[in-house]
Amino acid sequence: MPAGRCAITRLRLYQFRNYPAATVTLGPAVNVIAGANAQGKTNLLEAAATLALTRSPRTSTTGDLVMWGQAACAIEGSVARPGGDTTLALRLERNGDSARVSRTATVDGKPRPARSVLGLCPVVMFWPDDLQLVKAGPDARRRLLDILLMQLEPRMAAHMSRYRRVLEQRNALLHRLRTEGHGGSELDGFTRELAHHGARIAVARSQLVSALAPLANAALRDLSGGDEDLVLSYVAAHQCVCDNEEQSKLDLLAAYRAHASEELARAVSVIGPHRDDMSIQLGGRSARTTASQGQQRSIVLAVKLAEMRHLAQRTGASPVVMLDDVLSDLDQTRRGLLVSLLAGRDAAQVLITTTEPLHNTADMRDAQHFTVTRGSVVPDV
Ligand SMILES: Nc1ncnc2c1ncn2[C@@H]1O[C@H](COP(=O)(O)OP(=O)(O)O)[C@@H](O)[C@H]1O
Ligand SMILES: [Mg+2]
Repeated sequence: MPAGRCAITRLRLYQFRNYPAATVTLGPAVNVIAGANAQGKTNLLEAAATLALTRSPRTSTTGDLVMWGQAACAIEGSVARPGGDTTLALRLERNGDSARVSRTATVDGKPRPARSVLGLCPVVMFWPDDLQLVKAGPDARRRLLDILLMQLEPRMAAHMSRYRRVLEQRNALLHRLRTEGHGGSELDGFTRELAHHGARIAVARSQLVSALAPLANAALRDLSGGDEDLVLSYVAAHQCVCDNEEQSKLDLLAAYRAHASEELARAVSVIGPHRDDMSIQLGGRSARTTASQGQQRSIVLAVKLAEMRHLAQRTGASPVVMLDDVLSDLDQTRRGLLVSLLAGRDAAQVLITTTEPLHNTADMRDAQHFTVTRGSVVPDV
């Protein structure tokens, strides 16, 4: 069990999505946030996650977070952590009519670069889409790794955003090369920069998957008691071992050379961490093609528990766990087991949203309950 937990004790929203203004005092363990559809349950979890990650895990269009018709929104959270309590705040402001939004992060009232906020309140999120994690395309698995990674190593967030930019520029150049036939001399510079950031991302992700793998396998046993091994491994599109940044960069550069004509023909960068994946095997077979629906669910829960335990081991405190509307998709046994593992053994603060009342279930007896109605959250009496 980790030394302590990270918990959001108070969350305040101002003009965030459908919340004009709200203050919620959360309990240290399980918090159940109930409400009908479209009342603001997911928005509330999104606010907490956006504060912790400095951007929304749900949308890349930051302007969507500001209440319609308003110019700015703000989120503030008081966070209790073993290293001392801290207050995080994030303000997002539209820049006139443009789609651009400026972000201001503060820690204990002092302005900070957004990146230095990462990891101060580690979070693990479980959205309904995550139930497709095994079957879905690689994008979802890469995103899971990246969100975890940037909380563990905030400087990786800089490599990721730089990588995305250079990738866009390089693809635009490949397109120009194909249509207009010039620009080849610039390509080399982009390729080297892409390989530089790409190698760091690939190595960091690969090490992360190696750390998650045994935790996920153990968690699957906790959850389903089966005896088939769950094996997670990082699969790079350029087939590198990915245990060394220098070597990985050389491997990437060699792969770009090998794929030069394909890249030109398709006008996209076909190699690099944006094409990598995490393979999931159960009992020696690809879970994607062979695992049953029930097994896939158990695998996803195991991966989420692994994320949480890895964050707890590395940071010394259990992260805040958010479960958005996913409990109703689990059978009673799995649900009880999950909640008792999260809140009991792992001692995490858990924020659960649900459309069904969960008051009377045994696993929720000690929880704090709230009801959300049209952008207002009220504790149940
Ligand atoms: N920027 C925004 N301003 C105002 N309302 C918004 C904004 N973004 C989303 N909404 C509204 O928030 C409502 C609640 O969304 P959500 O939290 O996803 O509901 P649920 O309770 O089903 O999880 C939706 O009706 C949506 O129209
Ligand atoms: Mg929802």
